[in-house]
Amino acid sequence: MSSESGIQINVTDRDGVVTLITSNPSQENLMQLLYDNDMDIEASCGGCASCATCHVFIDSDWHSKLPERDSIEDTLLEFQEHFDPESSRLSCQVLLNASMDGLSLKIAPEE
Ligand code: FES
Repeated sequence: MSSESGIQINVTDRDGVVTLITSNPSQENLMQLLYDNDMDIEASCGGCASCATCHVFIDSDWHSKLPERDSIEDTLLEFQEHFDPESSRLSCQVLLNASMDGLSLKIAPEE
């Protein structure tokens, strides 16, 4: 399955550098988009919601525009040192769609 292409995301990396990246049709979720653009995302479980190395903080303007975390995502994130109840997401669990164009996020610190 492929996603829509051309979705632009503003990414703040761990050094505070902001980069605008753009999706292509092979990327189904936010983690794949970040990973393919070398945005410090390890994604060691490959998107199975079991490692939390794809942890990001979503900009507050976008919290209500994304589908809510499910219980598996919630449980894994709650164990993370840098968990923020409002903004934390596992980027592998956020499917890309055109309504996310312009979203801003920050890569979470390494655990
Ligand atoms: S890639 Fe492992 S939880 Fe997202």
